[in-house]
Amino acid sequence: MDFFNYTDQALFAENVSLESVAEQFGTPTYVYSRATFERHYNAYANAFSSHPTLVCYAVKACSNIAILNVLAKLGSGFDIVSIGELERVIRAGGDTSKVMFSGLGKQEHEMRRALEVGIHCFNVESESELYRLNKVAGEMGLKAPVSLRVNPDVDAKTHPYISTGLKENKFGIDIKDAPRIYQLANAMEHLNVMGVDCHIGSQLTELQPFLDTFDRLITLIDELAESGIKIKHMDLGGGLGVRYRDEVPPEPADYAQLILDKIKGRDISLAFEPGRSIAANAGILLTKVEFLKCTEHKNFAIIDGAMNDLIRPSLYSAWMNIVPVNLAATSEGKRIYDLVGPVCETGDFLGKDRELDIEAGALLAVRSAGAYGFTMASNYNSRNRAAEVMVDGEIAYLIRKREDIDHQLAGEQLLPE
Ligand code: LLP
Repeated sequence: MDFFNYTDQALFAENVSLESVAEQFGTPTYVYSRATFERHYNAYANAFSSHPTLVCYAVKACSNIAILNVLAKLGSGFDIVSIGELERVIRAGGDTSKVMFSGLGKQEHEMRRALEVGIHCFNVESESELYRLNKVAGEMGLKAPVSLRVNPDVDAKTHPYISTGLKENKFGIDIKDAPRIYQLANAMEHLNVMGVDCHIGSQLTELQPFLDTFDRLITLIDELAESGIKIKHMDLGGGLGVRYRDEVPPEPADYAQLILDKIKGRDISLAFEPGRSIAANAGILLTKVEFLKCTEHKNFAIIDGAMNDLIRPSLYSAWMNIVPVNLAATSEGKRIYDLVGPVCETGDFLGKDRELDIEAGALLAVRSAGAYGFTMASNYNSRNRAAEVMVDGEIAYLIRKREDIDHQLAGEQLLPE
């Protein structure tokens, strides 16, 4: 459920018409709904309220500091994969003691900074990373809290590019090697073994892979207990899918019911790292039709949003729903269009074969663009990155101004004469 709805044929974000957002801030613009972010975060927090659980929003999904701040105020923790994401959390007023640090290439300076601010746990992905973390923590006279990210070899049944829990993937530690590496970690002077972590993939529309993962992790936890290593938390990562088209993903409450049933009676807290299921349907990309180009073979709607703004359709052949901001009929009538951007790539499209009644100047909303939208944007073709706006009730706030050329070129310089 989200708060993007039509009133009298005009699409609104909460109580603000998207037409007025376009007038005020221009296009292309990402528009987020605060109430939707809150609803989605609370769906997790409420579902797991009967068991000690840390919900760590995956910052990579949508990382604007205004959004992190909204979630921090609700008590959210954060899953980060770089020091850049950690600095965002800090600037957004997030609680660093609720931060999980994931990612397989952590550098020494990143470990140092995370230790300095006191994060909750490092999700370690290799033996070499353990040695590095032990060394850095030792230099600082600290003990680093660690979980091992294990790879449970479970098929998440999702797009191969976003499936991460199979043994051929680069992520995590093979679950078969985990007992040995836990012993190693446990013996390191500057590490404090806390948990078990995993993340099997993204946009999962079934719960079974999560349940299989849970079972494998519990077996590992029991095995570790027998050898004297007490695991305090189990982090099941993110991955719950959303509806882009006709998918029927489970709700956090369905997920919680099954997991809570399994963990009952055990003294292990839970952690989750949801990104997409909190952010995707809390944002749209607002874009304008520049020209209609109707040829004998195809009709194109050339829009001002492009693959550099939203790469999911080009990169994963992702289908994103694209709807007119105003549903009133136009003199053009209905046609089937490819919605393409101005970037010089054949792969620059946001949607193909869409039946729409639109004219030049019409505004379109690309739905479910809140996750992996702006965060994956680039300056390809030297395009300035889009503005970001957050609607809260009756008011639309600019939370990131549209890039201008000075902003884009800051940091570049000519060779000396
Ligand atoms: N935790 C870890 C360690 C992750 O790698 C990810 C996502 C998450 C949590 C959050 O997963 P989520 O709840 O969002 O599924 N760019 C792709 C998605 C890549 C996901 C990468 N990892 C897309 O646009 O579909």
